[in-house]
Amino acid sequence: MPDHTTIYEKEALTYHELISKQADLTGRIQELRSCCGLDIVDLGAGTGRFTTALAAKAKSIIALDESEAMLRITADKLERAGLTNWRTQAADHRRLPLEDQSVDLIVSGWSICYLGSTNVSNWQQNIHQVMSEIRRVLRPDGTAIIFETLGTGYETPTAPDFLQPYYAMLEKEYGFSRQWIRTDYTFDHLQQAERLTRFFFGDALAEKVIEHNLIRLPECAGIWHLQL
Ligand SMILES: C[S@@+](CC[C@H](N)C(=O)[O-])C[C@H]1O[C@@H](n2cnc3c(N)ncnc32)[C@H](O)[C@@H]1O
Repeated sequence: MPDHTTIYEKEALTYHELISKQADLTGRIQELRSCCGLDIVDLGAGTGRFTTALAAKAKSIIALDESEAMLRITADKLERAGLTNWRTQAADHRRLPLEDQSVDLIVSGWSICYLGSTNVSNWQQNIHQVMSEIRRVLRPDGTAIIFETLGTGYETPTAPDFLQPYYAMLEKEYGFSRQWIRTDYTFDHLQQAERLTRFFFGDALAEKVIEHNLIRLPECAGIWHLQL
């Protein structure tokens, strides 16, 4: 499996090329909380798929991520759009550089999982810290919406074993409700499907892409939603 930390530091543009093959997901966020006029924070914003789509509607938006290389792409897109209601800042999810009760909506896509995997020795403590930070910075009527994987290469939800305890914690301990959606990648041709799949998901899935001619690579995602 490729090293994702290195990808986020050194190959942010290729990551962005990969996710540009997925459908726009901001409608899913808007169904849960209308973003107009809100102060929004994107946790683990990466190259800004949520931040850049929500910025025009938001009162303000802050993109946080531990990777400055990823945030540079987000900032570049927001600058080119001529928007001024945003900032980016390098930060870890466990220590948010934000005032208490200063945020209406927190969104986070495929990011908190890096702290919540059972492959990380202190994953439970990590999730307690992240959830405590989310509760601290949200206003009393605030909303948190977290997207995480339910399996790449699968047509129906198939949560990786190492993330299931984190997902159970969100629901049982922190009161999130869950729904799921398809987040398939629609590539332009097989060679591109293989290259981008190998880049991020590794050799085994890339071989499956070739074997089954998966120009459309299926993927499922969970959306965890908390309304205070
Ligand atoms: C799979 S990318 C998702 C990016 C973006 N949310 C999206 O939907 O495309 C994961 C992002 O989480 C960031 N990240 C991982 N662990 C983090 C942590 N502990 N604190 C802050 N950001 C983190 C990575 O730098 C990376 O940009």
